[in-house]
Amino acid sequence: MEKFVINGKTNLKGEVTISGAKNAAVAILPATLLVNGICTIENLPNISDINIYCDILKTLGVKITQTNPNTVIVDTRYVSCIDAPLEMTGKFRASYYLIGALLGRCGRAVVGMPGGCKLGARPIDQHAKAFEALGATVEIGQGKIMATTDHLVGGSIYLDTVSVGATINAILASVLADGTTTIENVAKEPHVVDVANFLNTMGADIHGAGTDIIKINGVKELHGGTYSIVPDQIEAGTFMLAAVATRGDITIKNCITKHLDPLSAKLKEMGANIEEISGDTIRVWCNERPKNVDIKTLPYPGFPTDLQSPMGVVLSTAEGTSMISETIWESRFQYTAELNKMGAKINVQGKVAFFEGVNDLYGSIVSASDLRAGAALVIAGISANGTTEVHNIEYIDRGYEKLEEKLRALGADIQRVKE
Ligand code: EPZ
Repeated sequence: MEKFVINGKTNLKGEVTISGAKNAAVAILPATLLVNGICTIENLPNISDINIYCDILKTLGVKITQTNPNTVIVDTRYVSCIDAPLEMTGKFRASYYLIGALLGRCGRAVVGMPGGCKLGARPIDQHAKAFEALGATVEIGQGKIMATTDHLVGGSIYLDTVSVGATINAILASVLADGTTTIENVAKEPHVVDVANFLNTMGADIHGAGTDIIKINGVKELHGGTYSIVPDQIEAGTFMLAAVATRGDITIKNCITKHLDPLSAKLKEMGANIEEISGDTIRVWCNERPKNVDIKTLPYPGFPTDLQSPMGVVLSTAEGTSMISETIWESRFQYTAELNKMGAKINVQGKVAFFEGVNDLYGSIVSASDLRAGAALVIAGISANGTTEVHNIEYIDRGYEKLEEKLRALGADIQRVKE
């Protein structure tokens, strides 16, 4: 086990380059199972979730060659249609994409119940609904999900709740189905669009990703090709919030500024300075105490739930009283108890947290409860007086590539230490 030891108080200043999007990559890797050919995937984030996925795909007969830390060549011509290893698929949430991909490729998928960060109940009923609408039989039990079909037939899917995972899984299961599929009440996140763009590059016929209705015309086969993962909207937003929390000045490169609009709007409301230098570079700086705001997390293009905890760090030392309503997850405020150890004044009532801004945070020993909470606590440690230890940083390694290196390049005093 390892921890981060951080000595504050630092104003982060300089440039940071954003990596490929974790939540696109963990869908595009399994999506290669739908391709009978060779795919080169570039701008892949070098994080533990990706490494686990590559190991799982290898057990299914996929040949994977890593040509550099952020590029893999994936040969799916010899996929063996066997069960995915239950103990490996239970390690993280995104293993559920194997179901849609293996259904499409093999007509059968057996996957361990997905694990992942503890954010409250994380049902997969909408995934099952999508698969059944396409003619599959889905059984959930004994810690695994089994989906089988003689052949998938295009159909109409209306998701009861906006779900990133169910939207992507429905797309995966439909691209090789007979006929046309429509999916409504879909998620519009940038990573959903990226998965559709990847599949279309390989010969799929998907229309409307990023809008309210997605239409997929099934095709016979997908061919290989080369694809570069979209920049990570959430990593970019994390660094924007780090600039404001530490009263610093950060230029964020290799991002898509349009994807950051929900956050930029809120930061401007708080009095932070934002300059879009180009479509892929944004500068954020803040010299004085931010004003208080109210935040409500919503599906894209609303305020992202994955930026809720880093925003909580900013609100902890903003003027006045702020509020965050978490509408996506049942339990995503565990980090506030850790911030209160650092001198914050946060009161959680159900799915709403109230922040009474304080002048300063103070170093303490804190623990990450999910990857975004972990990044938030690191930012808090950099903005605090004194020394902070952040434990359970394996969560952070799941979704942030070289976080401590990128922060050190911005002036942070942060070390990774063995527990
Ligand atoms: C994805 O999770 C992301 N993970 C999460 O990011 C992110 O917080 C979430 O989308 C929302 O944006 C990956 O992409 C791997 P959902 P996912 O299905 O797909 C309910 C991170 O930090 N729901 O969009 O699991 C669900 O309970 C991670 O990178 C059902 O009711 O989320 C939740 O309330 C954490 N039934 C809401 O929908 C279902 O079948 C949204 O969940 C599926 C979901």
